[in-house]
Amino acid sequence: MAALVWISGASSGIGEALARTVPGERDRVISISRRAPGGIEHLPADLCDPASWREVGACFQRELAAFEGDRVVFIHAAGTIEPLGFAGEVDTDGYAANVVLNSTAPQVLGHLFLAAARHVEAACHLVMLTSGAARSVYPGWSSYGAGKAAIDQWVRNVGVEQDRRGGTQVLSIAPGTVDTDMQATLRAATEDAFPQRQKFLDLHRDDRLSDPIDVAERIWRLLERGLDNGSVVDLREIDD
Ligand SMILES: NC(=O)c1ccc[n+]([C@@H]2O[C@H](COP(=O)([O-])OP(=O)(O)OC[C@H]3O[C@@H](n4cnc5c(N)ncnc54)[C@H](OP(=O)(O)O)[C@@H]3O)[C@@H](O)[C@H]2O)c1
Repeated sequence: MAALVWISGASSGIGEALARTVPGERDRVISISRRAPGGIEHLPADLCDPASWREVGACFQRELAAFEGDRVVFIHAAGTIEPLGFAGEVDTDGYAANVVLNSTAPQVLGHLFLAAARHVEAACHLVMLTSGAARSVYPGWSSYGAGKAAIDQWVRNVGVEQDRRGGTQVLSIAPGTVDTDMQATLRAATEDAFPQRQKFLDLHRDDRLSDPIDVAERIWRLLERGLDNGSVVDLREIDD
């Protein structure tokens, strides 16, 4: 039996690594992203556009209506750190897009996945990728940090709800600092827009960024661990 896996943002970074490391040889992976990743199915979607969410929801419903495999997974990895800069100073359209992608889209897409998975008998997993920025303050990342904090609280609530229904396992996982395009964007920022930039230059220089494939493999292993529903975990704080 095989799993059906949706990954938002499988065209780059951690999402791409998750797609490359799915545990089962026959697992089917669908990327939800603007760019088409090579070698896997692609559902084109600009998740900053709320109209795209209905198409994603329709895909969840269509595929799960007659699903016969043994596992269903949706990992929401799509996210953006841009525009880097202080609230009140950055471009308004870019700021609004950041809020929609990092805060609104995960909640609505998560809701649509749970609705489609309600009557599925296979094991169902919903994973949100969060960040230490949900708890720590980074000037220049206000809407990014707020979006990740929103994801974490959504997961805590929905995990308890799903526990009462015996439904989907819902987790929020912070991957640590990982060597992806997002990190390159941080290093390319100005000190003015992102005063803590030097810390990220140092992490890169000292080779202290995690490899996306290692992180992806750890995330897949975590799904097997039977963590409490609604758990919010940081890969830097747990052993596996
Ligand atoms: N890298 C880190 O150190 C780190 C640390 C903590 C948390 N995270 C989180 O991990 C997740 C993955 O980050 P990453 O580092 O792998 O970033 P990345 O390499 O920049 O990849 C971001 C992904 O998000 C997708 N995406 C961005 N805007 C989108 C949009 N409007 N519609 C649909 N998809 C969109 C991109 O796909 P397209 O461009 O093809 O649309 C891409 O696949 C993010 O949620 C991030 O917040 C990363």
